[in-house]
Amino acid sequence: MNKDAVYPTNIIGAGEVGRAISVDMDQNAVYQTNSFYWDTKGNDFLGAIVLPYYGAYVSEEKCQLFGDVSGKRMLEIGCGNGQSLQYHGERKASELWGVDLSEKQIEKAKLQLKTCGLSAQLLCSPMEEECGLPLDYFDCVYSIYAIGWTTDLEGTFRRIASYLKKDGVFIFSWSHPIHKCVAAENNRLAFKKRYFDESWYSVSLDEGALTLSDRKLSTYVNALAKSGFVIEQMIEESDEDIMQSRNDNSDFAQKAKMLPVTFVIKARKL
Ligand SMILES: C[S@@+](CC[C@H](N)C(=O)[O-])C[C@H]1O[C@@H](n2cnc3c(N)ncnc32)[C@H](O)[C@@H]1O
Repeated sequence: MNKDAVYPTNIIGAGEVGRAISVDMDQNAVYQTNSFYWDTKGNDFLGAIVLPYYGAYVSEEKCQLFGDVSGKRMLEIGCGNGQSLQYHGERKASELWGVDLSEKQIEKAKLQLKTCGLSAQLLCSPMEEECGLPLDYFDCVYSIYAIGWTTDLEGTFRRIASYLKKDGVFIFSWSHPIHKCVAAENNRLAFKKRYFDESWYSVSLDEGALTLSDRKLSTYVNALAKSGFVIEQMIEESDEDIMQSRNDNSDFAQKAKMLPVTFVIKARKL
């Protein structure tokens, strides 16, 4: 991408929210910028995405990717406010663990789970780094709209594989890369950036900033394969029932009828 490029972008599940400015990737600078955002703004502006939702129009209630979690050891990567861990706690998972970059989000998760009478092990750390999580331990590792924040996709997948028992399951959702390239404009969809462009950019949002890169679908698939996973299922279509029940005519809803806005992958450790 042209280093001086500025173009409209959407950050996670919604419409265009800011203007992206191309940057060089410096891991510590990304940790600092993004943790500051999640510590101060959190989900006030972007909105939380928590189970049963994988994204705006995809729900676990319909997809049933987790199945019965009773008695299972669960780890959430980028656990945010803890509501997805709560979802599994209420379904009798035996252990709840979470990791998040933001101290504030970890505090929120602790409070949320304590209020619900659930106990959890919550660690404040970048998902990319060694943080003392047990190895070959978990039945399931999952992440709801957090994996894409990693500065090192393959390294993060390799770590996740190391936390899982053999045959353990890894489920994650993120913005579909095609959604990041296309914008609704005057009742038409227009390409705003190259699908193949994985360069890093910063976007200013509501007085804060976030830094990330948009990876191709093949980048996720190939990184999973190299990290010892086999893909069992992938979901990319919006759920008609959810769309109809919301009776939403926004540009984002119109777009979600035409192309995938979220993708979910269920993989298994070999
Ligand atoms: C969109 S939220 C998703 C979390 C949760 N599903 C929610 O909606 O509250 C993204 C979360 O990822 C965390 N995060 C961002 N970069 C991270 C990193 N490198 N390592 C661990 N967590 C990270 C943020 O602090 C934030 O809590």
